[in-house]
Amino acid sequence: CLRSFKVVSSREAREIDEKASNEYGLDSELLMEDAGSAVYEVARREFGLNNRFLVVAGTGNNGGDALVAARRLYSAGAEVRVLVVGDLARAATLTLKNLERVRKMGVKVTVVSSERDLEVVRGEIEWSTVLIVGIFGLGLRGEVRDYRRSVIEAVNSSGKQVVSVDIPSGVNPDNGRVEGVAVKSTVTVTFGLPKFGNVLHPGAYYSGKLYVSALSYPPALLNSPDIKVELNYPVKIPERPRWGHKGTFGKYLLVAGSKYYYGAPYYASVSFYQTGGGYARLVAPKSVVPVLAAKASGVVYIPGEETEEGSLSLSNLEKVLTIVDEAGVDVVAVGPGLSTNKETMELVARVVSEVKVPVIVDGDGLTALSGRLDLLKSRTKPSVLTPHPGEFSRLTGLSIKEIEGDPVGHVSRFASEYNVYVVLKTARSVIGLPDGKVYINLTGNPGMAKAGMGDVLVGVIAGIFGLGLRDVGQALRAGVLVHGLAGDIAAGEVGEDGVTPDLVLQTLPRAVKLLRE
Ligand code: APR
Repeated sequence: CLRSFKVVSSREAREIDEKASNEYGLDSELLMEDAGSAVYEVARREFGLNNRFLVVAGTGNNGGDALVAARRLYSAGAEVRVLVVGDLARAATLTLKNLERVRKMGVKVTVVSSERDLEVVRGEIEWSTVLIVGIFGLGLRGEVRDYRRSVIEAVNSSGKQVVSVDIPSGVNPDNGRVEGVAVKSTVTVTFGLPKFGNVLHPGAYYSGKLYVSALSYPPALLNSPDIKVELNYPVKIPERPRWGHKGTFGKYLLVAGSKYYYGAPYYASVSFYQTGGGYARLVAPKSVVPVLAAKASGVVYIPGEETEEGSLSLSNLEKVLTIVDEAGVDVVAVGPGLSTNKETMELVARVVSEVKVPVIVDGDGLTALSGRLDLLKSRTKPSVLTPHPGEFSRLTGLSIKEIEGDPVGHVSRFASEYNVYVVLKTARSVIGLPDGKVYINLTGNPGMAKAGMGDVLVGVIAGIFGLGLRDVGQALRAGVLVHGLAGDIAAGEVGEDGVTPDLVLQTLPRAVKLLRE
């Protein structure tokens, strides 16, 4: 995605519809006509008219859109049949009107309203070459059950090309969850703006290739500043000044590592240099430093006093604060591989409270903040938190299921409440800014689901900050994007299974270079 796209909830999509009708005279029938025509255009472009189209329509307005597409395809000369799934007695007015239109034109219509009709469904699917499916759109409530579920299963097992209308039937538009079963689509045509369910997994996967059609929506409605969520499109990374020196590209201090975790401090420091950062210091327990120094000798090591468990002791606080002040450190990161030793956790809390530069908190550092988030509110410089869902659950007290039910809303509220920049690291990471803006990231792949990958992200964010994006929100957005892009470049080379943190360290420079071009 190379341009900005706002993304909406089902409620916001409905508000846009209402405003289009009330303020601009764009009534539902006109928008349904536009929507069905957009689906027709995409079906023609993707598959051509020389096909047998089976239009599978529900009884709500989503089905109405599908029926307009059926009419347009039929008028254009394609072979078309219609399958209506649901009780016609409860169908939406405009859907019935469009059903009558196609019937009168001579299109074969079959109504499916019980499990007994499934043989007919299979027969019609068998006849077709392309399916256009609009059973449920934004109106889906709860799980898909009974014969509707069987129809969707029949669609999925048919192996036919599938065009979904607005959102794959069965995908929850507000969080991308599959409500029991959902239509696996080749292509989805969404209207106005993408919905959360089109871009968050698994809904994004079920959507397939996504088309966004503006229909006749006024641009002012689609670009409204009231819509706070956008795709994480690339931000510009500043040029590397010719006269720059190591201090120009960021002075980074990382507090990380313990007897049990050597990888975390390694990845979180080396990734800073691989992204383009200038000067990395690492405070780690003194017993682990020699091992790290043998692997990453470009990092400047500050051996720290240790607890009995081999983690950093509280006595390192003064040292950290002094270096930050005296060396003019620009950004501090705390957390990777620190362990959850009580004294070490106290060190984290004190560093976060007392350090007067932007701070990134990750991993065990987040555990240290659980239960004392209020200390973030008194910070005067930006705080960045990079939790995965488990860590976000500990921070917020919400269950993972609750988080997955409304990732965008929870991230947005958390960022505003605690005045923090937060990235919820998932298959489609959600970035929240303190001003309520949210960005959904599209780069990255399942090959990146490996230990150590989050540590790499910490150094990347600091590295981008070092490159000169001193707006923390922008550095975070660019960092998440670059990290995912490096993972995608790695997957392109060796396949997803072989993507490791070490390989991502190698591909990071190319990701940064790509963004500069
Ligand atoms: N099981 C069975 N029926 C359901 C379920 C469920 N779990 N959930 C919803 N329904 C019914 C609803 O009662 C409604 O009749 O299925 C229909 C789904 O309606 P939609 O067409 O999704 O909702 P609606 O509000 O009518 O239309 C919204 O219209 O603007 C277009 O395509 C656009 O997605 C958008 C859609």
